[in-house]
This record gives sequence, structure tokens and C-alpha cells, in this order.
Amino acid sequence: MPKPVSICVIGSGYVGLVAAVCFAEMGHKVVCVDNDELKIKLLQQGGVPIYEQHLPELLGKHGGKAVQFTTNLAESVQGSEAIFIAVGTPQGSTGAADLSYVEAVVSEIANAIRDYKVIVEKSTVPVYTNDWIRRVLHRRGVRPDHFDVVSNPEFLREGTAVGDFLHPDRIVVGAGTKPAAELLSRIYAPLTEGFYYEQPGSLPGPCSAENPAKFLLTSAQSAEIIKHASNAFLALKISFINAVANLAENVDADIEEIAAGIGMDTRIGPKFLKAGLGYGGSCFPKDVAAFQWVAQQQGLRFQLLEEVRRINDTQQEVFFNKIRSTLWTLRGKRIAALGLAFKADTDDIRESPALKIISRLIEAGAHVSAYDPAAMEKAQQALPTSDRLSYAKDVYDAAEHADAVLILTEWKEFADIDLAKLNRALKFPIVIDGRNLYRPEVMAENGFTYVSVGRAGSY
Ligand code: UGA
Repeated sequence: MPKPVSICVIGSGYVGLVAAVCFAEMGHKVVCVDNDELKIKLLQQGGVPIYEQHLPELLGKHGGKAVQFTTNLAESVQGSEAIFIAVGTPQGSTGAADLSYVEAVVSEIANAIRDYKVIVEKSTVPVYTNDWIRRVLHRRGVRPDHFDVVSNPEFLREGTAVGDFLHPDRIVVGAGTKPAAELLSRIYAPLTEGFYYEQPGSLPGPCSAENPAKFLLTSAQSAEIIKHASNAFLALKISFINAVANLAENVDADIEEIAAGIGMDTRIGPKFLKAGLGYGGSCFPKDVAAFQWVAQQQGLRFQLLEEVRRINDTQQEVFFNKIRSTLWTLRGKRIAALGLAFKADTDDIRESPALKIISRLIEAGAHVSAYDPAAMEKAQQALPTSDRLSYAKDVYDAAEHADAVLILTEWKEFADIDLAKLNRALKFPIVIDGRNLYRPEVMAENGFTYVSVGRAGSY
């Protein structure tokens, strides 16, 4: 096992916090910095600011020990060999990523540097950000032999972030110099050499000592593009299957059978072919727009991405029309909405298709009774207060006397509903499922009118 590395992670959002605790779990000494004093205080007191599987255990194991939390950036930078920038890069008004947080952090790093540091972009950034970071450091008088800039994009998913970090499909490192590449390979050695997987109590997953994580060394620009292109390609797969779903529905075919048939071709693969309400979340919508902007900056038209976005926006419209054509008028109807998070296993409601649909229903005069296993609090803050919107304590409470049930998020809890109990609670046994959690024949056997996505008899 190579010598542990002292690491500073700047930003304690999804990526920063997960990276910090996972680096600690891999045996490194970590300090995680954020300028949000309340969040740092919460973390110092053992609190967990986000809903994420395995995070509470790892924070309990390493918090205050292998990983420290602080607001003191200068001291943390000075005490570390590698500095990971994991601050937000939200979507700006032009579609481009807003890099002002990255620039602010780089300026602070510049003031703090006293000797050689490897500065690592972990946030999702457009190509050439590594170059900009280098320029800002130069302008602020940092000696060229005092730093290297590396791009090391993160591919974790919310909900499975810790598992994804410790069992990655690949680790991409865009480094232009030998010392920087060597430091990054030392940081990831527990995963790429398999040491981590041999440890007792290591998190189980697809990687193992015999099948360790893959390490791909590239140029910084390639690494930056790999991140954007990966997310854009996954978004493209989702829009593709949603477009095929709309066709399947018109010709009485079944999108689940079609996706299975397409996915068996190993060149295509079965993942990310689940038709539904379109992609949401804090990454795909922002990254597809940002990648399109990157191409535009180079004078290139990447219209394919425009179409990916258009299909995604249309998908929620298609579902809303489906609700209307099933229930006819919406004013005064009581509708149970199951799911608020943008996907299962998270409390994140950013760009959630569910919230968009609920807002439309309320505008149309319907009464919505909403339930989500994890995202109730966040949704209550995000959705406008309305006497036509209430929050239920569980699935059956939401369904009580409702004219129909909508399934908007693919939580396992919604795939395991007691159908007889649901039927008894409802005024009319109608389920409109935006995530295809049930087989139509099973719903028919249980006495439901069942409307889903891309399947025969949906209307
Ligand atoms: C996504 C990528 O999957 C990660 O690899 C990446 O690191 C991350 O963005 C990021 O850039 O930070 P995430 O946004 O957490 O991760 O969620 P996904 O699991 O990818 O789902 C995104 C959306 O697509 C969800 O709304 C989900 O419901 C939808 N989806 C996903 C489908 O509609 N169909 C599918 O087959 C898969």
C-alpha cells in the first residue's frame, strides 16, 4: 500500500462530501473545506447534511478523525499535497456553466500556496477550465513550479454515490505532468491496485482485489470532455428510448420488451433505457446545455443535443396530456402523486419531473395529495403553498378517496404497493404510472385502469 496522501477537498456538496469521506475510507488524511459555516458546524457535530446511502456510517467512522471539517481554506491548502475543487458549477443564463465559484476558490488557493501543490478539478467544468485555473494562478503570482492542474471528473450518481466512488467503472485523470499523474495514481492506488477491497469491512461492490478499478490517464482537455460527453450520451440514451416509447404506444407495442431487445445487444447495453418522465436532477439538464454551449463556442453545431433536450421537455408534456385524457377534466379532481424526488433513493428535488407535473396539475385546478419516502421536506420548500396541495403520510393516505394515483418516481416502495389496499382507498381504481413499475396484466387482474409509458393499451 503506497504512502497515504494529505488531501484537501473544497466544497462539501454531493461530490465534495462523498469524495472526502471516501478518500478517508481509502486510507488518506483529508480536510474538507466549505465557506458555509452552518454546514461545517453540522458536519463537525456528526450531522449528515444529505440523504445518501452509506454516508452516515462513513461519516461516523471517519468524521473528526481521518476527515476534518473546517472553513479555513488557507490552512487546509497549506497542509495538503492535493487540493480537489468540488464546488458547484450551476447553469448560467446562456446555458454555459457558471464558473464564478471555481474562480473564487482558485483565487483563494493562489493566496495560500507556499510550495508545490496538485490542484484537481473535480467539479463538472467545460473544456479548457484547467487552462483558466492555470492562468488565474499565474496572474496572481503563483510560481509555475508551485503547482500543476489536473482534471479528475467524478461519475458518481446520487443515491449510490458512495458505492460508485469506491467501485467506479473507471477513474479518469487528465494530467499533463509526471509528478501530478503520479500523485493521482497514489491517491487512487487503493482502488486501482485493489488494496481497499482486501480490507476487512470494505464496502462490497463490482470491483475487487482481482478486478480492481480501471485508471485512464489522458490530457486535461480530454478528461474535461469525457465528463460532459458521458453525461450527454446517457441523456441521449434516455431521450432515445422515450422517443421510441411514444412511437411504441401508437402502434400497440411494449417499450419494456423493446428496451430488453435493444439492450441485449452488447454494443448498446441494457442500462439507461428505462422510458419514463424524462431525465431530471442537478446534472443532466445542466450538463447537456453546457456541452452544447462548449460546441457552439467552437463554432460547431451539436443539434443532436438540442433534440435530446427537446424530447426530454416534451416527455413531461406527453405525460400530462395522458393524465388529462384519462381523467378528462382536472378541475376539482383529487389526485394522489407518489414521488417527488427526481429519481429513487434520493431526497433531491432539483429539476424533478414530478414537481413540474404536480405544479401543472395544481394550475389546472386539481387537488394533489403528495407522498415521497425521502423528499417531502425539500418539496414542501420548493412547491408553492396552495390549499389544493397537501402532503400525505404514506401511499394509502395519499390515495384516500382519490380519483387517480400517479407514480412519478421509481422508488422500490411504489413497486411493492399492496394493490388490494390501494384499490380500497381510491375513489376510482386508476393508476397512471410514469415509471412503468407494474405489468399491465397484473394491474388489470387487480381491477385497475392502468396507464403507463410506451405500452399497448396505455390510453
Ligand atoms: C448522473 C450520472 O448518471 C452520473 O454518472 C454523473 O456523475 C452525475 O449525473 C453527475 O454528473 O454528477 P444522477 O444525476 O445522480 O447521475 O442520476 P442518474 O441516475 O443518472 O439519473 C438521472 C435522471 O435520468 C433521473 O431523473 C432518472 O430518473 C432518469 N433516468 C435514468 C431515466 O429516465 N431512465 C433511465 O434509464 C435512467
